[in-house]
Amino acid sequence: MKDLSPKPGDLDPIETASRDEITALQLERMRWSLRHAYDNVPMYRARFDAAGVHPDDLQALADIAKFPFTVKQDLRDHYPFGLFAVPRERIARLHASSGTTGKPTVVGYTAHDLSNWADLMARSLRASGTRAGDVAHIAYGYGLFTGGLGAHGGAERLGCTVVPVSGGMTARQVTLIQDFKPTTILVTPSYMLNILDAFREQGIDPRDTSLEVGVFGAEPWTNAMRREVEDAFDMHAVDIYGLSEIMGPGVANECVETKDGLHFWEDHFYPEIINPETGEPVAEGERGELVITTLTKEALPMIRYRTRDLTRLLPGTARTMRRMEKITGRSDDMINLRGVNVFPTQIEEVLLATPGLSPHFQLELYRDGRLDALRVHVEALPEQADDAARAGAARALSHQIKSIIGVTCDIAVATPGGVPRSEGKAQRLRDSRPKD
Ligand code: DLL
Repeated sequence: MKDLSPKPGDLDPIETASRDEITALQLERMRWSLRHAYDNVPMYRARFDAAGVHPDDLQALADIAKFPFTVKQDLRDHYPFGLFAVPRERIARLHASSGTTGKPTVVGYTAHDLSNWADLMARSLRASGTRAGDVAHIAYGYGLFTGGLGAHGGAERLGCTVVPVSGGMTARQVTLIQDFKPTTILVTPSYMLNILDAFREQGIDPRDTSLEVGVFGAEPWTNAMRREVEDAFDMHAVDIYGLSEIMGPGVANECVETKDGLHFWEDHFYPEIINPETGEPVAEGERGELVITTLTKEALPMIRYRTRDLTRLLPGTARTMRRMEKITGRSDDMINLRGVNVFPTQIEEVLLATPGLSPHFQLELYRDGRLDALRVHVEALPEQADDAARAGAARALSHQIKSIIGVTCDIAVATPGGVPRSEGKAQRLRDSRPKD
C-alpha cells in the first residue's frame, strides 16, 4: 500500500491547534449557536424556556449538559421546514432521509453551510490521503441522500477530478475504475464488497487497480472488514462518519496514517457521550450514545442531537481534535436475544474470521415457538462447492458466535449470490417475527 501520510503544510492550522485554542473557539461558537437557535426557532425557545435555561447560562462547554436534547421525532413533528433558523429564501439546498416509515426528515443548508460542508469534506478526504489532482470515484448515492452530493462538494473543493457515478450498475463501476483510473473511491463498505465480486466475475485482479484508498462510511463496519477490503484491493480503507441531521458525510474522519478512530471536526461540532437510558453524560472515555451540537450551522442548528450511534470519545492522535471509536452500531440495531445484546458488527467480526465463507451476511430475527431466535444468512465462497465443507464452515461459525458473543444461532449457508446485495447501505437485519 502506498504511503499517503500528510506532508508538512498539507493541514489546516486548526487541525494542529492546541486544545486551549480549540476549546476557546468552541465556546465562542457554541454561544452563537445557542443564541441563533433560541432567537430563530420557536421549538428551541419554548424548550429552553420550559427547562429554565437561557443561552447566556453557557459559561463553559460542560454547561451544554443543562440544555434539552433534540431527537429525530422533532424533525418529523416540524416537517418540512419548521426547525429552520433562516427564511426559506436563504435555503440553498434541501436533503431528506428516505423515510422507510412515515414522513421523511428534511434538512436544509444556506450557501454558507454548503461551503463549510465542502471544506470539512475536503478536510476528510485529505485525512484519508486524497490530494488535489487525484481522480475521485464517488459511488455514494446522489439525490436526496447526503452521501453523493456531500462527497462531491468536498472532492471538488479539494481540487480532485470528480467522477459522479452514484450507486448501482455494478458492472459499469468496474469499467469506469479500469478506464478512468481513480486513486480514491467513496462508497459504502457493503457496496465495495459487491464491486469486489464484480471485479472477480470479470476476471480482473482487484489488486491491480489504480485505487489507493477507499473512504467508507454511512453504515457500521469493523476492523475485520477493513483488513478484508485492504487485502482484496491492496489499498487503504478509511472510515468516514456523518449524518444528515448534523450535515452529511464529513462530521468525523479517520486519518490514513493512524487508522485509529475518527477525528471529530470539533471546530464545527461538539460531541458528547451520554448514557442512553438516563441521558446523563458518562465519564470520560466510557461508551454510550453520541450526542452532537452544531457550532456553525445557519439553516438548521442542532442542539444536543441524539444520534443513537454508540461509541466513545478518545483523545487526539494524528490531529489534536478528539477521536471517536469506530461505531459499534445504532441502539435501534441492537438485538436482545434472551438477555444478551448483539450487534450486527459483532457477527461481522466473527464471520470474517471464519474460513470458507464470503463476507456478505444478513441477520434474520424469527420466532421459534414462544422465543425470539436469530438466523445468520451467509454464503459459501464460490470455490467451496461440496456440502460437507459448507456444513463444516456453518458449524465453525455457529461455534465461534456461541463462544465469543455468547448466543446460540442458526446458520443458513446460501450458494454464492444468495444473500441480498447492497448498492448503498446494507440492510443487516430482517425481522420475520409475526406481528402481534
Ligand atoms: O449516511 C451520511 C454519510 C454518507 C456518512 C456517506 C458517511 C458517508 P444518514 O443517511 O443520515 O447520513 O445516516 C446517518 O448512518 O447516524 C449512523 O447510524 C450511520 N453511519 C454513518 N456513517 C457511519 C460510519 C449518512 N462511518 C447514520 N460508521 C448515522 C457507522 C455510520 N455508522
